[in-house]
Amino acid sequence: MDTPAIRTENLTRTYRLPRRRWGKAPAPDAPREFTALAGVTLDVRPGELFGLLGPNGAGKTTLIKILTTLLAPTSGTAEVGGLDVVSQARRIRPFINMVSGGESSGYGILNVRENLWLFARMYGVPTALAHDRIDSMLGVVGLTEKAGSRVSHLSTGQRQKMNFCRGFITDPKVLFLDEPTLGLDVTSARAIRGFVREWMKQDPSRTLLLTTHYMAEADDLCDRLAIIDQGKVLACDTPGNLKKRVQEYPIFELSLAPGSGGWAKLGDLPGVHQSTAVEKPESIEVKVALFEEPAIGAVVQTLATNGARILALKKVEPTLEDVFIELVGHGLADAEETTAKGAPADA
Ligand SMILES: Nc1ncnc2c1ncn2[C@@H]1O[C@H](COP(=O)(O)OP(=O)(O)OP(=O)(O)O)[C@@H](O)[C@H]1O
Ligand SMILES: [Mg+2]
Repeated sequence: MDTPAIRTENLTRTYRLPRRRWGKAPAPDAPREFTALAGVTLDVRPGELFGLLGPNGAGKTTLIKILTTLLAPTSGTAEVGGLDVVSQARRIRPFINMVSGGESSGYGILNVRENLWLFARMYGVPTALAHDRIDSMLGVVGLTEKAGSRVSHLSTGQRQKMNFCRGFITDPKVLFLDEPTLGLDVTSARAIRGFVREWMKQDPSRTLLLTTHYMAEADDLCDRLAIIDQGKVLACDTPGNLKKRVQEYPIFELSLAPGSGGWAKLGDLPGVHQSTAVEKPESIEVKVALFEEPAIGAVVQTLATNGARILALKKVEPTLEDVFIELVGHGLADAEETTAKGAPADA
């Protein structure tokens, strides 16, 4: 079996909390530490595009910092490419890279190209190859015209795009993207997702770990994902399997013209698990849960033979939001509203 690209076992990280604040003595019962990761066990295979999905403060960045050797675990183990993040950190660093969506790194007095070139050279990328990769990456994010601009003159989104480029010009084997589309406009976010997908297809030995709190982005991009909250992995599976958990039966919604008949009989059909209907002045809204999807044929047939006019018919797909609510007890969007992180960029 392949060595996992990323593996953690019972990984924990606690942060020590300051004892004194504003010169006041601490309350005797004030906690001394905060647990950001509480026993995380994960296995990411080479070639996987793996997602970490969780609300603010869930521990995503803490986990990425440990995996990128920037932060030591408190206990448990973490390996990248089969190497231990603590004792073999120096061997891990050359083949990984990390980009954080919210960061404002870069040397302000250098221009975009110089920044990227400097970074590529630190990783030992030959100059000519570095320039080729820089050109191609700037094209991907639409920053070609800003290649000669000082980083301090870039807008927040442009700086973020430059950082995104930085992640790829070293051609890492394992790449960590912490909220890559945070705050980007719709078109840019879409271009970045498209590129990430292509980049993974180009070389099956690449592995990418991505954090996001945009449900649709996780759903769209990730082969598998872990839902994390308060430092714990609550579930880890493919987006499809996670969604199946919350919806046992296929569900369809039908909108019928007023006066339509037949809807009251739907619950008696052999393929129908459950049927509900709400009569409104302008329509009758019917919801049917089926044992198997093809039973929708019998539903439509029954309605038609009873003189019903179907105005609309759609399958109700569960979302990762539904999965999240079931696991955490509240929606991710609820958690988001209380922060100043901005709206999802067309995720
Ligand atoms: N240096 C630190 N000292 C104390 N607590 C910290 C420190 N860094 C992070 N924390 C706490 O650890 C928890 C996890 O933080 P982390 O940055 O890993 O969350 P996150 O999942 O990345 O959240 P976000 O979606 O907001 O980026 C938070 O409650 C945070 O306040
Ligand atoms: Mg974070």
